[in-house]
Amino acid sequence: MEKKIINLGIFGFGCVGQGLYEVLSKTKGINARVRKICIKHPDKQRPIDSSYFTTDQHEILDDPSIDVVVELINDTEAAFQIVSTALRNGKAVVSASKRMIAENLRSLYDLQQLHRMPLLYEGACCASIPVIRNLEEYYDNDLLNGVEGICNGSTNYILSKIFEEHQDFSSALSRAQELGFAESDPSLDIEGFDPKFKICILLLHAFGTFVKPAEVMNFGISRLNDFDISFARQRGCTIKLIAKCRKQNGNVVTYVLPHLVPRSHLLSDVQNEYNGILVESTFAENQFFVGKGAGGTATGSAVLSDISALTYNYRYEYKKIGQSNPLSLTQNLQLKIYLRYTEAGQVDLEDFDSLSEKYESSENRYVVGLINLSRLREASWLKNPGVNILVMD
Ligand SMILES: NC(=O)c1ccc[n+]([C@@H]2O[C@H](COP(=O)([O-])OP(=O)(O)OC[C@H]3O[C@@H](n4cnc5c(N)ncnc54)[C@H](OP(=O)(O)O)[C@@H]3O)[C@@H](O)[C@H]2O)c1
Repeated sequence: MEKKIINLGIFGFGCVGQGLYEVLSKTKGINARVRKICIKHPDKQRPIDSSYFTTDQHEILDDPSIDVVVELINDTEAAFQIVSTALRNGKAVVSASKRMIAENLRSLYDLQQLHRMPLLYEGACCASIPVIRNLEEYYDNDLLNGVEGICNGSTNYILSKIFEEHQDFSSALSRAQELGFAESDPSLDIEGFDPKFKICILLLHAFGTFVKPAEVMNFGISRLNDFDISFARQRGCTIKLIAKCRKQNGNVVTYVLPHLVPRSHLLSDVQNEYNGILVESTFAENQFFVGKGAGGTATGSAVLSDISALTYNYRYEYKKIGQSNPLSLTQNLQLKIYLRYTEAGQVDLEDFDSLSEKYESSENRYVVGLINLSRLREASWLKNPGVNILVMD
């Protein structure tokens, strides 16, 4: 197939933008060159020649010589406006902005169909792991049962430092921020929003269902305390923040919740900023993808792979949308959870279908029991900062 030369207009020159620039300049054989980089703050010191930079987005979006717009900024609204304008202007787009993509999946899909221009976003889900293209190309929908795993590098880094090196939460978070793994707003990571954006994108490519992030339950790791950590250790487990989507009785269920993970489980070995995704299909059973899930060059390499894919006219076909038996979102799933709290009356144990363990001391209480995801999602007691949950599979 004939390879064309691609002129790039890049938005953003932060962690990922600079990572892409580094990867691009060290990669031989890619027919792509950077024409312009649009940034926000003109007075910031930049490591490359100032002639590359502009703050005027029209210098990229209205330049007919630029055929691919690479959107790598940290402003969701501006990113959507840039990506949709680029598609309308007949430019192919590569983006890593998971929040912007997840919140606008339907509009972005429609824009791609209407303007017949591709939008690729492999770097948005698990940074360096090529999971979207695998879900698109390799897995036949009838055979796919579920996709789940660790898809947030900074929380996995924090949990690894807590469990493997006995560090405390806040110093592990600061280090994750220094290393460029954390989002500009770290609450997006530690409260589980970032993996929720990613699972909404993966779900569309796995099952063809559009799910809005607001419909998906997320609960992160910010409430984790020493009692929870000892509870996990005593049971031979670690804790991982897991995003999950799976087929269930003709529907699809999805959530992001912290899980107790036995040391023998594949996901237990995924450490630091690495991500791990388990894909379960009927006949091949489990397949496991592991790779760096955050960081400038790891994400930059996925962005470069998308740019390269455009040189042979690759686009997502979204084959599973419009299939004969569309899957709808359900919240009907029974979960076994550990619920830790401090005072009786702080939680409503009536919300549980059954309890199998109960513990009380002067400082901590916990129960283990079965609860429906729909109940858990609505539970007002879960808003109390003195309460924490962990899923026990
Ligand atoms: N960091 C990661 O590991 C990672 C991994 C996967 C995906 N992502 C996603 O990739 C995107 C970029 O992340 P990042 O970590 O590189 O962010 P970052 O380091 O905070 O950099 C953001 C960049 O965006 C520029 N910018 C912000 N608003 C802009 C606007 N309206 N027009 C033009 N430029 C604008 C900033 O300009 P100035 O330089 O002038 O401030 C900066 O260069 C985010 O959507 C993030 O979720 C990040």
